[in-house]
Amino acid sequence: MKKLSTLQLVPGMIVADDVMTPNHQMVLPKDTLLTDSLITKLELYGILTVHVKDDVIPPESEPLPGIPSYFERIKSSPEFQAFKASYEIEADAFKNMINNVVKKHTQLDISELLNRSLRMVTNITGRIGILDLLHNMREYDDSTFAHCLNVGLICNVFTHWLKLSDAEVELATACGLLHDIGKLLIPHDIIAKPGKLTDTEYLQIQKHPAEGYQLLREQNVNEHICNAALMHHERCDGSGYPLGLRGSQIDAYAKIVAIADVYDAMTAARVYRGPICPFRVIEIFEAEGLQKYDVKYVLCFLENIVNSYIQNRCRLSDGREGEIIFINKLKFSRPVVRCGNEYVDLAENPTLYIESLL
Ligand SMILES: [Fe+2]
Ligand SMILES: [Fe+2]
Repeated sequence: MKKLSTLQLVPGMIVADDVMTPNHQMVLPKDTLLTDSLITKLELYGILTVHVKDDVIPPESEPLPGIPSYFERIKSSPEFQAFKASYEIEADAFKNMINNVVKKHTQLDISELLNRSLRMVTNITGRIGILDLLHNMREYDDSTFAHCLNVGLICNVFTHWLKLSDAEVELATACGLLHDIGKLLIPHDIIAKPGKLTDTEYLQIQKHPAEGYQLLREQNVNEHICNAALMHHERCDGSGYPLGLRGSQIDAYAKIVAIADVYDAMTAARVYRGPICPFRVIEIFEAEGLQKYDVKYVLCFLENIVNSYIQNRCRLSDGREGEIIFINKLKFSRPVVRCGNEYVDLAENPTLYIESLL
């Protein structure tokens, strides 16, 4: 038996111990055979480490999707290349600014932080959405800085979808950009450790919300920014940490950041595959996320993601290819797909699902 970080799991590994949340809620029982979907589900629950058995059963039932051609097309587009170039410049500037705040205690300049990071978004005018562009950037940089930048930009798009005012959109973006700043106060070799995490290391990582809160309080920034750092791992059903807060006890901005944060973690590329199909992430959210996240926020988030894929071609789990033509508002992960002359309603075919976008 070995203890691995969630990032190191691959399909075919077998869970050696019950996987529980910090609040003792069962996520996966002992002896579960891991699949790609189950590994993504662990991200949704914020599980950092799992005990697995030494033997691995090569998966047969769930084929590895590899990098879907949809994402390959995005990556070769001029739009993505331009985005990648400006992302690298802004990510560097972002890293320097944050490092100075954490290490040299310089004053945090929120408007400069927003100006620089939003410059990338305002340049995007084409058909590829910011979420799809970011989804592909995760293969290049997996650092805490890149993650914070992504979560900030996802919060920006998300709060536009929520139709919040310009000031609220800016505030939510700043909340996302700074939500994990506490991780930079935890020794880097623990955060970046690819292998086993000891129980002490695990507890240290769990201190990052409080560390971040403390640092931001000292910087005298807006209290929602401090609260988002403190509460982004809290869950509406009380299953989160560090305080086990519920529903209305959690700051609204922290609830928005929580969704953007977990979406970024779930869509990250893994060692055994490229970016995951967004419909599979949405399916896991629908199955497990509605009690954990604020329902009005999560439904708005999922609906807008799904809407961006109408008319997109996809491959179903039985190998057929078709076009997504109608979104089911009661089940966003299960739209109607036209395959040739046939209309396949995924809501009525529970064994079928969208395996990849084409
Ligand atoms: Fe975090
Ligand atoms: Fe995070």
